[in-house]
Amino acid sequence: MISKESIQGGPVPKHVAVIMDGNGRWARQRGLSRVLGHRNGVQAVRETLEAASEAGVSYLTLYAFSTENWNRPAEEVSALMSLLVQTIDKETDTLMQHGIRLLTVGGIEALPAEARNALIALREKTSVNTGPTLILALNYSGKWDITQAARRLAGDVRSGVLDVADIDEQCFAGYLSTQGIPDPELMIRTSGECRLSNFLLWQLAYAEFYFTPVLWPDFRKEHFFEAIADFQHRERRFGRIDAQIS
Ligand code: IPE
Ligand code: IPE
Ligand code: MG
Repeated sequence: MISKESIQGGPVPKHVAVIMDGNGRWARQRGLSRVLGHRNGVQAVRETLEAASEAGVSYLTLYAFSTENWNRPAEEVSALMSLLVQTIDKETDTLMQHGIRLLTVGGIEALPAEARNALIALREKTSVNTGPTLILALNYSGKWDITQAARRLAGDVRSGVLDVADIDEQCFAGYLSTQGIPDPELMIRTSGECRLSNFLLWQLAYAEFYFTPVLWPDFRKEHFFEAIADFQHRERRFGRIDAQIS
């Protein structure tokens, strides 16, 4: 079992992104409804946030609801939205105590009013905090993010604020919803699925990927530390050869 101590001394990613997957299968294995799978996933969120903070990770992005997830049965979508509101209500004090700042990425204006308002209020309340940043990806997809960036960038070119010749990677990244946030160096996906499911397409260009069969409701602090330990053994070459990496 990997503990916090075993990752001390090694490099810790500044930003970790997580695709929280497997709630439905966890529930099915127990003969429970999918919604109960989601409810039991909340403890994994708490532990991941705690573990990230203990490890010294500054940014944690959690994929909580994708643009494609609107295609799920309406009862499941509405249960997920209620769970979001309930969890915000319950956890606000803890976030404040730990100095955690909340940000969101994704089109939250399309969420039901209750969820949207709870998120906006929590974002505002936690904006004074100086501890780790928790980023919730909601109604998010990577293609949406790149498309909305292109649309806003084109608008700025048309209005003369931006010169076409000044568009480079850094400029483009400034239009993404993750503007100002360093790219994740590690992406974790639970439940054994090995795909991106339209998560942070641009931002994960050079991330290390870590896939674990553990289902999200079973994900605990030690699983997070295990992922960090695995990351510490990767050689990040960025196109160079191994002799160039000290
Ligand atoms: C992840 O678990 C939660 C969300 C996508 C909101 P799933 O609900 O996708 O669980 P599986 O993949 O059906 O097991
Ligand atoms: C990805 O999980 C989205 C979230 C975790 C919010 P899904 O379970 O929706 O992805 P697919 O459908 O297996 O690709
Ligand atoms: Mg899934």
